[in-house]
Amino acid sequence: MNPAAELDLELLDRLVAAGGLPVEVGGLIAADAGGEAGLESSLDGLRRAGYTIEQVHPHGSAALRLLRTPDRLYAHEVRRRLTTRWIGARIVSLDLCSSTNDVARDLARAGAPSGTLVLAEAQAAGRGRAGRVWHSVPGAGIYLSLIYRPPEPPPSLAVLQFTTGVAVAHAAMKKVGKPGQLRWPNDLLFAGCKAAGLLAEAIETDEGTALVIGIGLNVNHLDEDFPDDLRGVATSLRLVSGHALDRIDALTTLLCSLEEWYDRMAAGDTDALAAAWRPLSSLIGKVVVLTRGTGETRGVVVDLHPARGILLESDSGEEAWIPAERVTFIRPVVTAK
Ligand code: BTN
Repeated sequence: MNPAAELDLELLDRLVAAGGLPVEVGGLIAADAGGEAGLESSLDGLRRAGYTIEQVHPHGSAALRLLRTPDRLYAHEVRRRLTTRWIGARIVSLDLCSSTNDVARDLARAGAPSGTLVLAEAQAAGRGRAGRVWHSVPGAGIYLSLIYRPPEPPPSLAVLQFTTGVAVAHAAMKKVGKPGQLRWPNDLLFAGCKAAGLLAEAIETDEGTALVIGIGLNVNHLDEDFPDDLRGVATSLRLVSGHALDRIDALTTLLCSLEEWYDRMAAGDTDALAAAWRPLSSLIGKVVVLTRGTGETRGVVVDLHPARGILLESDSGEEAWIPAERVTFIRPVVTAK
């Protein structure tokens, strides 16, 4: 069970509002419907959820002081610090689930509103693109799924992925202060190693098509947290920046960035998106082999555009836009100089 399920959030709010200063127990007992016993049980609950609260005796009277908030993505902590308008309208925070995308899919089918956010400390069966596994180290990353019910006309999955990639990249770069790159369609790389990936799925519901956007962001992972096959290939914001990050701060930065870019996407401004994507792309100017179904085309990537796709100059010198949804894979070709 999630230890935050039954927390006395009123008591917590009073302690938080005091900004680390002591709050007199007498006043807290008076505010608690259960009196002294109620306060004791509320304190037990908060401590079990990881809050460090100490008893102090300033001027001889008993008081309580909040010393430490746990490193957990509790819904009430996220809400406290979130400044978005619609993302996070509802927040479901879980200790463990199979995949946040699966939980979000079920919630979307049950009518959950746009902006509903599912967070998990760990996933037993985190999914990546193309049937791959997303390795979810407990408590180290941000594993989230967002339900988005877009206004008409809805964006294509390709546009949605472009937009999400840009939003994730901007938020992560802001946190680490280093340049990142987007590897088509939307892996976030720092110095060639992957720090985030995303998996967007369209779900049919009674209220129309809902989009579920799953994002996995490696935040406080150390090298030894990654399985052998990911060492040297995966990275985290901590490894990139050289310091551990406050995960709630990283999450709220990410959600603000997503809301800003989704609002732009809803306004149909795909050129602004393209302009933001271009400098982040790891592919522009590179020779690649592009797979479409069973066919392969080799050429230089001249440009990328969320609505038009990939502009490829083939070996024969012809340029053509290839719609992103037709492309299954792009492999950069290492050319000898
Ligand atoms: C990829 O890089 O292939 C996509 C990875 C997406 C991982 C996230 S973690 C939260 C959400 N739940 C999942 O099962 N997958 C996405």
